[in-house]
Amino acid sequence: MTKILVADPDPRSQQDLRALLSQRGYELDAVADMPQALAPLGDGDVDLVLCDLGLPGGGGMQLLHQVQSLHPETAVVLLSAFGSVQDAVAAMRQGAADFLGKPFAPDQVLVAVDRALEKSALQRENQALKTALDDRLRLDNVVGTDPRMQAIFKTVKAVAQARTTVLITGESGTGKTLLARALHALSARKQAPFVEVNCGALPETLLESELFGHVKGAFTGAVRDKVGKFEAAAGGTIFLDEIGTSSPAFQVKLLRVLQDRIIERVGDTKTIPVDVRVVLATNKDLEQAVKVGEFREDLYYRINVVSIEMPPLRERKSDVQTLAEHFLRRFATEHGRPDLHFSPAAITTLLAAPWPGNVRQLENVVERAVVLSQGATIDAADLPAQLRNRGDAGPGPELAVDDSAGPPLPLKEALVGPERRIIENALRHCGGNREHAAKLLGINRSTLFHKLRKLGIR
Ligand SMILES: Nc1ncnc2c1ncn2[C@@H]1O[C@H](COP(=O)(O)OP(=O)(O)OP(=O)(O)O)[C@@H](O)[C@H]1O
Ligand SMILES: [Mg+2]
Repeated sequence: MTKILVADPDPRSQQDLRALLSQRGYELDAVADMPQALAPLGDGDVDLVLCDLGLPGGGGMQLLHQVQSLHPETAVVLLSAFGSVQDAVAAMRQGAADFLGKPFAPDQVLVAVDRALEKSALQRENQALKTALDDRLRLDNVVGTDPRMQAIFKTVKAVAQARTTVLITGESGTGKTLLARALHALSARKQAPFVEVNCGALPETLLESELFGHVKGAFTGAVRDKVGKFEAAAGGTIFLDEIGTSSPAFQVKLLRVLQDRIIERVGDTKTIPVDVRVVLATNKDLEQAVKVGEFREDLYYRINVVSIEMPPLRERKSDVQTLAEHFLRRFATEHGRPDLHFSPAAITTLLAAPWPGNVRQLENVVERAVVLSQGATIDAADLPAQLRNRGDAGPGPELAVDDSAGPPLPLKEALVGPERRIIENALRHCGGNREHAAKLLGINRSTLFHKLRKLGIR
């Protein structure tokens, strides 16, 4: 049933509108001030608001703004006994569906109401279409309009139901972990656990007990039996991240599990069958790692059954804007500013940046902009300076080089401070993960380790 809210302090006016509109079969609610008006609006099922310009508690224009930010598809018709032409023009410009002078002729009201309701129905329809479109452009929480992402969505949908091992490759921050989760969420295993293990973070012996479990007394410190992640993931999915940096001995063990689907707890000879879907990820070029002998060839073939390569963000420009808008909606809502939007200059800046930290970096940039921006628009000035100036999007704050302070230092010495700040910032950005930090900084891991030692950063 079509629902109309009358927000007017004048009881006569409320009465007239009620008599007129209930004849037409509309459901009518009448309130006399702003706070009362906000309650029914909050439910989101009001189709049309008829509102007096002089509404106590904020005024009709204020209510118009509220409606537009809360429920843009709800139409608003403003009423006024003293309305001037300027008021009418201002109201229409702000998006009111109509403006009626009081006292109003019944016909006039009915025409305005019909027209406004038509407009609101059209807007709802558009909104529904947009949501349906959004569904095609996302897979679970993974958003992507780029044709390569669409192809990935297709692959994921095709293999989600099977127990096939899936290998996800791609640079840091391209969405490998997110995709692994989507794969699980779309499978029949979704009720069972999704268990994540970072294989690059643990020394080999610990990793082994972490994955396969151990029995009491298997090694010093093994004071009780421990269930491993493979068993914990029973019926579900185990996600082995950073597989490219695992040790050769671990690779042999993993190969056995993948071949035979059985595990042995450390210190035990009993074999335990496991029904687990294995998804692996790496930001390394595994083929290259095989060539140089860092990764076992037989394991590579075993895990490379279905492989998905996440393209770097710089190679999918159409996704930059889609993702930026996606993150903006999320963070703006989180920070209670649902009407925030990007200025055209901000979009241009985002599109021009090279995004070495990929989607993770874009996500951080948008959150930072939401927090820093004043008003309803995120402008280019709300984006990190590196993004604007050099078109180079390194992490962290701008570098203030104060060249007014005394005579210049030799260049090499002068660069030590900024270099340390950039590295420390990158590490902070990645929660201390050196591999990720090196990626963000565009240097390889050993260069980063060398610099950490040289600068005494721990
Ligand atoms: N297509 C996408 N749609 C929405 N959010 C995304 C997308 N890709 C990545 N993200 C978000 O970006 C961030 C980084 O993604 P994720 O952690 O999956 O990357 P990753 O490739 O696993 O990185 P790493 O190699 O560092 O582990 C996450 O917050 C994730 O939610
Ligand atoms: Mg990851």
